[in-house]
Amino acid sequence: MDTNFKKAKAVILAAGKGTRMKSDKSKVLHEIFNKPLLGYVIDAAQNSGVIDFSYIIVGHQAEAVSEFCKTVYPQTTATRLQMPQLGTGHAISFVVDDLKDFDGEVVILCGDTPLIKSDTLQKFVNAHRESKSALTVMSAIFENPANYGRIIRDENGLKAIVEEKDATPEQKAVKEINAGIYCVNWKEIAPAFSELTNNNAQGEYYITDMVKWAVNKGLKVESFVLENNNEIFGINSKLHLAEATKILNNEVVRKHLENGVQIVDPQSTWISPETQIGADTLILPNVYITGKNKIGKNCKIGPFAHLRGDVEVEDFVKIGNFVELKKSKIKSHTNVCHLSYVGDSEIGSGCNIGAGTITANYNPITKVKSKTIIKDGANTGSNSVIVAPVTMGENSNLAAGSILTKNLDKNALGITRTALRVIQNWVKNK
Ligand code: UD1
Ligand code: CA
Repeated sequence: MDTNFKKAKAVILAAGKGTRMKSDKSKVLHEIFNKPLLGYVIDAAQNSGVIDFSYIIVGHQAEAVSEFCKTVYPQTTATRLQMPQLGTGHAISFVVDDLKDFDGEVVILCGDTPLIKSDTLQKFVNAHRESKSALTVMSAIFENPANYGRIIRDENGLKAIVEEKDATPEQKAVKEINAGIYCVNWKEIAPAFSELTNNNAQGEYYITDMVKWAVNKGLKVESFVLENNNEIFGINSKLHLAEATKILNNEVVRKHLENGVQIVDPQSTWISPETQIGADTLILPNVYITGKNKIGKNCKIGPFAHLRGDVEVEDFVKIGNFVELKKSKIKSHTNVCHLSYVGDSEIGSGCNIGAGTITANYNPITKVKSKTIIKDGANTGSNSVIVAPVTMGENSNLAAGSILTKNLDKNALGITRTALRVIQNWVKNK
């Protein structure tokens, strides 16, 4: 890549209503593996290496969407309010002021296409630069192009984008569609946004009309054909959300299988894209791993395990059935095999966490979450409760059924059991 180029800016359109989600929540705040759809698009832009800042156009549920951007991406995003929403072309006019002195490329994306990849965006921007076009449209070939804008060409190349609702029967037959992602040389294309009109079937200002505008001005317009159509899978309903989650999961599972992770049942295994897994780790059926996690080599996870994010597991660790882990670090050769909850914890190496061990990390009255520290070689007995904040020293033991409320020294035993009473012949004497 030519390093002389300055980074592009992104504009992500996210003001639309998303009626078909049938939800009180903004469409772009719906989540896949605990990350909002909009987060996927912002990350793809930011991780492409060619974009350094994103303007997010918000409208419906603007406050919640802005809050998300401000909290998660305080340095790299700014939101602009589009009210009312008069179309995709109208949306862009809300960054014209911000970018009035910007002399570079702007990449325009939609907030509801979470499967777009950062390396595709990088290739897209690089192709735009190499072709020295003023405008590059990302397109795709669809067997069933219904509902998309169609790419219209003549012998001189790309001529226009026509929306389905405005298309003639011949235009509807075109299988090359507009993906809704564009790269524009801002200085050259920006004037288009004050000249767009809304005399079309939907009475909207279409961003797609910038193509005709640019062609009329004699500017060079190119297309970039997407290789993997899944990347522009748009979410309009809860069904789409489930389908997109499956597509993403299939990609993630396949990548791990290729990297030497053994996954017994890809169909029932869910792994978030931000999870790393070492080779020769075995993942048994019905495992759900969400958020950011790092799992070492030669581990055994599941069946029926739930990793909720911020989990770090070193090599040779066993996480068994009906175990839930959250925000915890587990060092090598430790077993958490059955029915346990480990949250906000640090567990050393060579520990055995007995069946049904619970780290009681949350106080619902104070709403405070506290930390459990279990040092190397320590063991917990079955059905023990560890009331955090608390530390179990090296090689210490907590007896089965005990409730730990203070620190255990190295090599100590904690036991809160009342002595066992045995009543002989109790049954007989009843
Ligand atoms: C748009 C394209 C179409 C393309 C398709 C790809 C136009 C006119 N058409 O159609 O050619 O094939 O995307 O998915 O652009 N939005 C705003 N403000 C608005 C209107 C929309 O922010 O005033 C946002 C929406 O929230 C959404 C995105 O822009 O994220 C696309 O809008 P949508 O109405 O879904 O466009 P399509 O009809 O799908
Ligand atoms: Ca529309």
